[in-house]
Amino acid sequence: MNATDCITHFPKDFIWGAACASYQCEGAWNEDGKGPSIWDEFCHDTIDGKNLNISNGDIASDFYHHWREDIALMKAHNIRAYRFSVSWSRVLPDGEGKVNEQGLQWYSDVVDELLANGIEPMITLYHWDLPAALQDKGGWLNRDIIDVFAEYAAIIAEKLKGRVKRYMTLNEPACIVQAGYSKMLHAPGWRVSDEKMARIFHILALSHSAAKRAIKMIDPAAQVGIVTCGRLFWPERDTPENREAAYRASFDLSDAYWPFKHNILLDSLIFCRYDASIPAPVRRFAATIPESDWERMETPDFIGINVYDGPCINAARETVAPMYGSPVSACRWPITPEVLHYGPEYIYRRYRLPVLISENGISCNDMIFDDGRVHDPQRIQYLRRYLLALDKAIEEGTPVMGYLQWSVMDNMEWNSGYNERFGMFFVDYQTKQRIPKDSAAWYAKVIATNGQSLGEMPRF
Ligand code: BGC
Repeated sequence: MNATDCITHFPKDFIWGAACASYQCEGAWNEDGKGPSIWDEFCHDTIDGKNLNISNGDIASDFYHHWREDIALMKAHNIRAYRFSVSWSRVLPDGEGKVNEQGLQWYSDVVDELLANGIEPMITLYHWDLPAALQDKGGWLNRDIIDVFAEYAAIIAEKLKGRVKRYMTLNEPACIVQAGYSKMLHAPGWRVSDEKMARIFHILALSHSAAKRAIKMIDPAAQVGIVTCGRLFWPERDTPENREAAYRASFDLSDAYWPFKHNILLDSLIFCRYDASIPAPVRRFAATIPESDWERMETPDFIGINVYDGPCINAARETVAPMYGSPVSACRWPITPEVLHYGPEYIYRRYRLPVLISENGISCNDMIFDDGRVHDPQRIQYLRRYLLALDKAIEEGTPVMGYLQWSVMDNMEWNSGYNERFGMFFVDYQTKQRIPKDSAAWYAKVIATNGQSLGEMPRF
C-alpha cells in the first residue's frame, strides 16, 4: 500500500487519545490525606497476611508530582483526550463520609490543566483501587456499596460538572471479578465461588446504574459509559459463516470463559436479563434476583472496550490456535489486529450503542538506546496494524467514537509490576525522567492527519 491509495475513514470528530489509571501512575500513596486502597494493602502484603512480594504503586510513575509536565508532553504529541481514573480513597479516605478536599481539588486542577491544553478529560470512576475501608465491609460483595459508589460519583460530578463531558463508571468488571475475587491475581486476592462471582457482577451492574443516575441528576449533559473487556473472536476467513461463528462465540457464556465475556455484564445493563447460555451457578444466582433490581438497570450512553488480542475461530466454531512463532508482545500476548476490526462490530451489532476503544496498546522491551532515545518499532508496527483494522470497522459502518492508546506513560502493571512497559512516554523510574518513545511521534502524526498517515509505510 502506498500513501496515495490509502484513504482511512476516521470521522472528523474522532477522539484520539491515551489513557492511564490512578494506582498505576500516580504514586503519592499516602500523601495529602489519601486513605489506603486495596492495592496499597495487597502490594504491602498487609491484606489477609498474604506474602505476595510484588512491587507496589507507592511512587509508580509519580504522576502526582509530574502532572503538569506530563500534560505538556501530551499536548506536544497532539493527544486530544486523556482518560484517567480517580483514586476513590484520595477523595474519600474511608470510601464514604468525609471528603478529603485536597485530594478532590487535585483532580479538579488536573482537569483544568488538561482543558487549558486543549485535551478532553475523560474520567473513569473506578479502576480497581477500592478504598480499603470498603473492602473491610465486604467490597463488591456487599450490596451497600451500590449507594456508596453513587455518593462518590455525585461528589466527583458536583466538583467537575461542566468541565468533564464523559465519564466511565467501572473499568473491566471481568477483571475486577475474576482476577480480584477468583484467581487471586489482583487485589483483594479473594477466592469466591462462581455463584458469588455472579453476585458481584450483578452488584457492579447496579452500582454502574446508580452512579449513572447520580451523575445525570447533577450534570444532565454528561455522557456516562462503562468499560468492559473479554474474549472477542475474529473469523478465520471473511465469509458470512465465519463472521457469524465469531459473533456467536464472542457472546456464548456456556464455557469456563463466561466471566471473561463482555455480555456477562452488558446484557444485564442493556437487556435487563442474562443470555440463555449462562452456566448453572449464574442461573442459580439469577433466580434470586428481585424484579425491582432489573428495573434499576441503566443503559450506558456508550460502551468503552479494552481490546488487546482475541482468539480466531472458523465456520465450524473451532478455535484456530495461532501458528507457533506467531508474533507476541513482550508479555507474550498474541498480536491479532483483526480483533479491532471485528470486535467493535460485534459489540455494536449486539447493543447498538456507540463504541469507544478505551484501551489498546502493547508492552515492549523498551530501553534507552545509546543515542539517548527510546526506539520502539514493534509498537509502531502494532499500532499501525490495529488502527488499520479499526479503520475497516469504521468503513463498514461501526460508529467508533475514538481510540485511546494504553498507556500514556510507562506505569505499574498490576501483578507484573514494572516489568511491562506499555507507555508512549518512557519513564526512567530512578530519575522520573520522561522520554517520548519513537512511537509517540509516530502517533502524534496519525492524530494530526486524522489517520491518513497510516497509509505511509513506517521507516524503521
Ligand atoms: C487494564 C489496565 C492494564 C492493561 C494492560 C487493562 O486490562 O485496564 O489497567 O494496565 O489492561 O494489562
